[in-house]
Amino acid sequence: MSLSCRDLHRTFQTSSQSIQVLKGIDLEVGAGEVVAILGPSGSGKSTLLNLLAGLDKPSEGEIFWDGEAIGAKTSHELAALRLKKVGLIFQDHYLLEDLNVIENVSLSGRLRRTVDKERVTALLGAVGLGQRSDFMPKKLSGGERQRVAVARALYAKPSIILADEPTGSLDRVNARAVYEILVDLARSENSAVVMVTHDEGLVKNVDKRFYLEDGRLQEQHPVL
Ligand SMILES: Nc1ncnc2c1ncn2[C@@H]1O[C@H](COP(=O)(O)OP(=O)(O)OP(=O)(O)O)[C@@H](O)[C@H]1O
Ligand SMILES: [Mg+2]
Repeated sequence: MSLSCRDLHRTFQTSSQSIQVLKGIDLEVGAGEVVAILGPSGSGKSTLLNLLAGLDKPSEGEIFWDGEAIGAKTSHELAALRLKKVGLIFQDHYLLEDLNVIENVSLSGRLRRTVDKERVTALLGAVGLGQRSDFMPKKLSGGERQRVAVARALYAKPSIILADEPTGSLDRVNARAVYEILVDLARSENSAVVMVTHDEGLVKNVDKRFYLEDGRLQEQHPVL
């Protein structure tokens, strides 16, 4: 199993109250499998994705990347492992404005001082940006920037891709295009994908759909 979690709980403590956002989440996502998580605003979708990414710690429960528990790792170990195994895509692309398209896509390689140029070229072709490789982010459209973010997330051949509203800032046509590129690429590279979205219309061709409500995941079976 590429990504799994067992009995995840997350409670936020504020000065006046304790908010139980996740109340026991179990999830298993295999290689090449695409899972969508839907649910109302404030239901805990981003909270769950941050836990799966190892960016936040659960109050209870455990997360496994390629079968390996991440709970006891130091933040340094976790960061190194995340660079290798996990690709992240957020609603806002978070491209580095001072780096061009090629440099942004190969960012994780640059951090390790080796850049696979063929890989970058292949990915930029796959996301339809072969002609934009030396552009700076501010000269790209919103949809193009988000396609760069998809290529960057895939660059290191991660076994896990986590995407939080990856098309949330785009219009319908661009949202569908970016979504299809993400799903096709991830499947062809055998990555496990967990994608959070508000948009039920977008997630027709996923392997599993879950609805997050009242702190728990409910699988939604397709209506035949
Ligand atoms: N650091 C925090 N401290 C306290 N409460 C928090 C914290 N982070 C999130 N919450 C609360 O947890 C709940 C879930 O938030 P989360 O961002 O996970 O929702 P979401 O499902 O992603 O919503 P949206 O669809 O609007 O992005 C919210 O009620 C939020 O106020
Ligand atoms: Mg959110």
